[in-house]
Amino acid sequence: MRQPPHVLSGLGLSLIITTLSAQAAGLSAEHKAFGKTNDGTPVEQYILRNSHGLQATVITYGGILQSLMVPGKDGKSEDIVLGFDDVQGYQSGTAYFGATIGRYGNRLANGAFELDGRHYQVPKNDGPNSLHGGPLGFDKRVWKAQPTKSKDSVGVTLTYLSVDGEMGFPGNLKTEVTYSLTENNELRIDYKASTDKPTVLNLTNHSYFNLAGAGNGDVLKQVATLYASQYTPVNATLIPTGELAPVANTPMDFTQPTAIGKNIKADHPQLKFAESKQGGFDFNWVLDAKGDVNKLAADVSDPQSGRRLQLYTSEPGVQFYTGNFLDGTVKGKAGKIYPHWGAFTLETQHYPDSPNQPNFPSTRLDPGKTYTQSVVLKFSAR
Ligand code: GLA
Repeated sequence: MRQPPHVLSGLGLSLIITTLSAQAAGLSAEHKAFGKTNDGTPVEQYILRNSHGLQATVITYGGILQSLMVPGKDGKSEDIVLGFDDVQGYQSGTAYFGATIGRYGNRLANGAFELDGRHYQVPKNDGPNSLHGGPLGFDKRVWKAQPTKSKDSVGVTLTYLSVDGEMGFPGNLKTEVTYSLTENNELRIDYKASTDKPTVLNLTNHSYFNLAGAGNGDVLKQVATLYASQYTPVNATLIPTGELAPVANTPMDFTQPTAIGKNIKADHPQLKFAESKQGGFDFNWVLDAKGDVNKLAADVSDPQSGRRLQLYTSEPGVQFYTGNFLDGTVKGKAGKIYPHWGAFTLETQHYPDSPNQPNFPSTRLDPGKTYTQSVVLKFSAR
């Protein structure tokens, strides 16, 4: 006969308590089909939920965060990330909505770099430069998935093996990305990678956030704080000049809460490099947290809905991009149109073009070493 819990041994009792607390935590996960790629490869979706109404959907195509439901101060949930309802949207899309980016997030000047005296050429897919790992980067690959669970989170681990020479990069590279959701309203993204030849690597997540809900207008009235006293200025093709420049007295100063639209149209050459007609932000901020994942890196809120996103990262930089290339022609989820400046990204990263910039922190990965990165997105409403 089964014994009632109170007469179980100490070990048995603690086991039961662990199980109960995991259940009481109100976390749940399910996975199901999400259609097929054009060549017939099945794609799955993993839906993670907590008891406070947060719901994250990750798909195995592109390691993409496909949807993120977050309640506002009125309790009403909105999907706050841009994206598509089907795989075909992502396959033909060029904006990297929600995607896991690799091997090299952001730009490599002339699509080239040197490593141990050897020259590597990767495809140029952004004018003279290479962007986000080339035309068939990690965002266009189907990943393997495994559900994960811990005492206080539910998640999914995605893995992808990028073979030696893929998109011009050296080394067989094994990459693992784990999305997990907690009862503290945190969505975590943890990365791990290893290689069998020296290589360069700069992974990120390319979610486009609109805290009022994807497709609900632009983000100009949303208020951002970036804990960064410097940024890396760029040339006309958005390649860093190599300088770390103070944000003080420039439109890049978000050290105090500032409406994203306040200075976006200011007469500043950097803003025009990012968007030649009206201006925009598309730069790497040098985080004061310097890779300390316990220190706040960015804090963005929407005064109207009250939704707030706080970002923590182990990376030294963040690309804050204001959807300058969105032009209202792309139809996203539920047929919604994503307007110009209709979202912002917070792409945690090493600085763009690091392999060609001797003064930037290194993006080199050697055999026997493990690349790691952790990102925490914390949500609340006020
Ligand atoms: C990054 C780049 C931008 C743009 C987007 C994708 O944010 O810095 O210039 O290419 O990705 O559209």
